[in-house]
Amino acid sequence: METNQYLIDLYDHYDEDGRLASKHGSVEFLTTMRYIEQYSKAGDRVLEIGAATGRYSHALARQGYAVDAVELVAHNIDIFKRNTKPGETITVTQGNAMELSAFPDGRYDITLLLGPLYHLYTKEDKRQALREAIRVTKPGGVIFAAHVISDGCLLDEGFKRRNIDVAGYIQNGLIDSQTFAARSEPKDLFELVRKEDIDELMSPFAVTRLHYVASDGCALLIREAIDEMEEDAFALYLKYHFATCERADLAGVSSHVLDIFRT
Ligand SMILES: C[S@@+](CC[C@H](N)C(=O)[O-])C[C@H]1O[C@@H](n2cnc3c(N)ncnc32)[C@H](O)[C@@H]1O
Repeated sequence: METNQYLIDLYDHYDEDGRLASKHGSVEFLTTMRYIEQYSKAGDRVLEIGAATGRYSHALARQGYAVDAVELVAHNIDIFKRNTKPGETITVTQGNAMELSAFPDGRYDITLLLGPLYHLYTKEDKRQALREAIRVTKPGGVIFAAHVISDGCLLDEGFKRRNIDVAGYIQNGLIDSQTFAARSEPKDLFELVRKEDIDELMSPFAVTRLHYVASDGCALLIREAIDEMEEDAFALYLKYHFATCERADLAGVSSHVLDIFRT
């Protein structure tokens, strides 16, 4: 199995630990935690695949869950270990989402796959990661899978911030000139999809979708406005976001989505 050196270089230098700590970044974190809390119960075992520095793993371990985490990049694991507090029932192992043979079948009530799918570039690799996540989850357990949505990124990182050169991407064949669908390679770091790609990806699996959630909604697009909000305004924004984050007509402009399904 090849390791993507571009990915290791990215996370060796990126402040992944800080990503969800800003007010606008917390929208994704709070939304994901809200859905995890809906499906978890005391005594559950949790596996986080692609745990990075452990924001979710540590938050769940501090709520009393027994958490095992898998992460590809050694630098992230060092920070994960530094972030571990006494009293947490938690392990972290270096490994690849596509090969989880260190973990037995049907062990986990809740499995988080929040990261690997948007760093894998072929349908087969993504399906292998999904197969492994499903294998280690108990029958009837719940899996949370995150994807990065191309239109949300194009609007925010492309047309708004110009970190993505939309015209250049079209010229290089990374964005289709007619449909604006994206195509990525490992050096592009993020694999951007639309809902129809996720539906197609999931089609061979005998699982039941529980929720399809715009986990950060428009939070990245309007990040400056969110970061300036006083607590009352932010609480109202969160209330709006939670009320609308499953609306099909809004999910396409989210930067991240959460596909939540039962095995
Ligand atoms: C953007 S971070 C997300 C971290 C965390 N799960 C969260 O949602 O905040 C993606 C993480 O997935 C890890 N990752 C990517 N591909 C992976 C793979 N094939 N196996 C395990 N981890 C992987 C990356 O190293 C990175 O730490």
